[in-house]
Amino acid sequence: MAIDSLSEFISAIEQAGELVRVSEPVRTRLEIAEIADRCMKSRDGGPALLFERPVLESGSVSPIPVAINLFGSPRRICLALGVDRLDEIAGRISELLELKVPEGLMGKLALLPKLAELAKFPPRSKSGRGACQEVVLEGDAVDLDAFPFLVTWPEDGGRYLTLPLVITEDPARGIRNVGMYRVQVIGRNELAMHWQRHKVGAAHWREMAERKQRMPVVIALGGDPASMYSGSAPLPPTIDEFLFAGFIRRNPVELVKAVSCELMVPADAELVLEGYIDPAEDLVLEGPFGDHTGFYSLADYYPKVHVTHVTMRKQPIYPATLVGRPPMEDYYLGNATERIFLPLLKLTVPEIVDYHMPAPGIFHNLVFVSIDKQYPGQAYKVMNALWGQGLMSLAKVIVVLDKEVNVQNPDEAWWVALNHIDPERDVRFSMGPIDVLDHASRAFTYGSKMGIDATRKWPEEGFTREWPKRIEMDAETKHRVDAMWGRLGIQIRDP
Ligand SMILES: Cc1cc2nc3c(=O)[nH]c(=O)nc-3n(C[C@H](O)[C@H](O)[C@H](O)COP(=O)(O)O)c2cc1C
Repeated sequence: MAIDSLSEFISAIEQAGELVRVSEPVRTRLEIAEIADRCMKSRDGGPALLFERPVLESGSVSPIPVAINLFGSPRRICLALGVDRLDEIAGRISELLELKVPEGLMGKLALLPKLAELAKFPPRSKSGRGACQEVVLEGDAVDLDAFPFLVTWPEDGGRYLTLPLVITEDPARGIRNVGMYRVQVIGRNELAMHWQRHKVGAAHWREMAERKQRMPVVIALGGDPASMYSGSAPLPPTIDEFLFAGFIRRNPVELVKAVSCELMVPADAELVLEGYIDPAEDLVLEGPFGDHTGFYSLADYYPKVHVTHVTMRKQPIYPATLVGRPPMEDYYLGNATERIFLPLLKLTVPEIVDYHMPAPGIFHNLVFVSIDKQYPGQAYKVMNALWGQGLMSLAKVIVVLDKEVNVQNPDEAWWVALNHIDPERDVRFSMGPIDVLDHASRAFTYGSKMGIDATRKWPEEGFTREWPKRIEMDAETKHRVDAMWGRLGIQIRDP
């Protein structure tokens, strides 16, 4: 059974023994973040937390509990996406991509269940109000100070919503986008929208600004966990995140119309902020913010959202996350993307065997990729292809290795890479777009990239020396030692 709401997800986490309810009053300013950080830094991501008595800036206790670190363990990210292993979703995507038209009537009939399953995925529009609209606040009743939004680091510019689904529409093509972009509370009914320039929401806004049209924006919190994850997935602008979430959870996402505009929101969300951006208005200062790089992002100018309506459940739960020096909860969201997108990467770069973005590389700083090398220069072909794909174009360092290297193990990947390279020969620099959060590039969002060809070099690539073999113990000796191991009295722990 698919999990339809945040409270069902929290119950499932509790049943799995991975939830701690905190009944002690804890301040939304820094204290929740410090407690969450200690959990996220512990083994396997620590427990999910439900703060039942969050203390607002005013000193009063909010009736709205704060949930944090919900996705932050290998088990919980699988629970969120309804699988035992993330590779199951990649497997289903591969099957779809490899769908051949079968021969004969029986073969065609065998295809029907798969097509029927596909037809189940699109989001379903419900008429009337959704659970997320049990309470509707508008006008003066909108007061963002009444919600337990967090201040996460001491030098942050204010309170932020860190796990929102920002819903917008492409004015030219009418296609919806759902993006996870943090928003800063800058007034009782005003927010600063931190969509970075490479993101789809920002492209919609540029288009609306060019047309000089007011842009409706809806920010949903909660809903089913597959939808929550999908906001962070780097899908092409033409693919609706709610369709993708429906595919992941094998059940459509139910949507209802927002109360103030035509945008649709997940019926099962906890809390929805509805409003608009006026392109005639000046941008506002957003930040600084303790970011997922582990450093503060500098304050910069972003569009202001006027919140005209807040809709919510009668007893909502506010979902949040904390970013900062890795590892943090976002590693598990990003890792799901890494696993799920492997077959899609292979579609255009078929020699890719596997890839991995280790936690300290915060996704865009370091990508290990293993390939089935079949011709000279292929490592360069692969890095150039990656730098030409969606948000992979922001990757700062790409290390290409041969297929036998387990790139899921960064120690192994670096060990092989550092042995295999002649730096002057195998390292290349390129230029391109750089992630907005990169503080080292020569210019904002523009700078250099490094590609390392750590594959075995071929004679056609100018390498004529003998290439050594990896050291491995022979199987016979291993068997003999296995047989005597129990008698040796040696206790060792796996690395
Ligand atoms: C916890 C978390 C916070 C994020 N915050 C931001 C943000 O503030 N701004 C941004 O542009 N991207 C942010 N991202 C990354 C985007 O969600 C991600 O790039 C996603 O693909 C964007 O959706 P889009 O491709 O539809 O634009 C965040 C991701 C996570 C997991």
